[in-house]
Amino acid sequence: FFRHFSSSSSRFGNIKNVTIIGTGLMGAGIAQVAASTGHHVVMVDQTDDILSKSKANIEKSLQRVVKKKYADNPKAGETFIAEVMSRLTTKTDAAAAVKNTDLVIEAIVENLEVKKKLFSSLDKAAPKHTIFTSNTSSIPIKDIAVATQRQDRFGGLHFFNPVPVMKLLEVIRIPATSDETFNTLLAFGKAMDKSTVNCKDTPGFIVNRLLVPYMMEAVRMVERGEASPQDVDTAMKLGAGYPMGPFELTDYVGLDTCKFIIDGWHKKYPDNPLFMPSPLLDKLVSEGKLGNKTGEGFYKHK
Ligand code: CAA
Ligand code: NAD
Repeated sequence: FFRHFSSSSSRFGNIKNVTIIGTGLMGAGIAQVAASTGHHVVMVDQTDDILSKSKANIEKSLQRVVKKKYADNPKAGETFIAEVMSRLTTKTDAAAAVKNTDLVIEAIVENLEVKKKLFSSLDKAAPKHTIFTSNTSSIPIKDIAVATQRQDRFGGLHFFNPVPVMKLLEVIRIPATSDETFNTLLAFGKAMDKSTVNCKDTPGFIVNRLLVPYMMEAVRMVERGEASPQDVDTAMKLGAGYPMGPFELTDYVGLDTCKFIIDGWHKKYPDNPLFMPSPLLDKLVSEGKLGNKTGEGFYKHK
């Protein structure tokens, strides 16, 4: 029998060309690490302006990485940055970008309908062997995968912010994900120099199922007037050893992202008290106070 081979890469198991769609906070970090570990990366976003900002952010982050890694040899550090940047290309047309790719990682806005629309169009454009993944924080992978005819080649790759620093990658399978696809994703995680954990397609996978209710519980504590955000953060850093307190972390993740997550879960599981929305979070989001990325959230950022 005849097997389909892509001219640019092997059929499975050896991911060389990666397309990352959405190059905001997460997508830019994923693109940086993929290119740093030798992959050829196409970055896709809505405008060339966003894409050039994302590339500038990657270059800044790479400077931080080489400062330590190449402390004794700054020239080698500059060469490393130039090589990584040369493996990154940009496009605004997602369908055109996936024509020669082994793996798609989607990191666009946390909205099921928008994600489904994107994957449905990519499904028609991408080669047969291409694996599709989402970096969603909270949407069931299987709800996105139904937009495609390749559910056996569909899974989740959930990275953590900041991607160049956080060592973990959650690899998620849906019932339809083939063993071959799942093993390829685990191998890709290793090639990205991440530690992987196997996750089922349950709300929040492992980390966010624990972390998001914790962050929301901190907000509720402040809403009840029991403590200030500053004192909660100091308490959790010095009393529990967390690198950031829950309010610093919510600002860091993005208040809009936290709201997307909690609203989605509340709609699906209205009786679960851990997934109750918060009036304070809603108010800040409606005022455009989304955290570090807009200069203000629970805290003011310079
Ligand atoms: N790019 C490259 N390097 C970076 C970086 C970036 N964006 N951000 C930080 N670093 C590096 C710094 O250069 C520094 O490196 P050296 O040790 O070599 O000097 C190191 O990371 C530590 O950074 P800082 O000294 O600036 O500050 P810090 O010690 O406070 O660490 C932090 C920063 C790593 C972000 C730390 O505060 C932390 O781990 N915070 C918690 C982050 C977290 O929990 N993330 C998960 C969020 S949840 C999520 O992502 C899932 C979801 O779906 C919502
Ligand atoms: P972000 O707002 O920083 O970036 C999203 C990017 O996607 C923007 O640049 C936007 O222009 C682009 N985009 C939106 N719709 C698009 C489309 N149809 N086609 C192409 N590009 C499009 O968001 P983020 O924080 O990077 O989150 C992205 C995804 O990653 C979400 O699903 C989120 O839940 C998930 N996630 C976020 C975090 C976090 O800490 N913020 C952590 C893990 C996973």
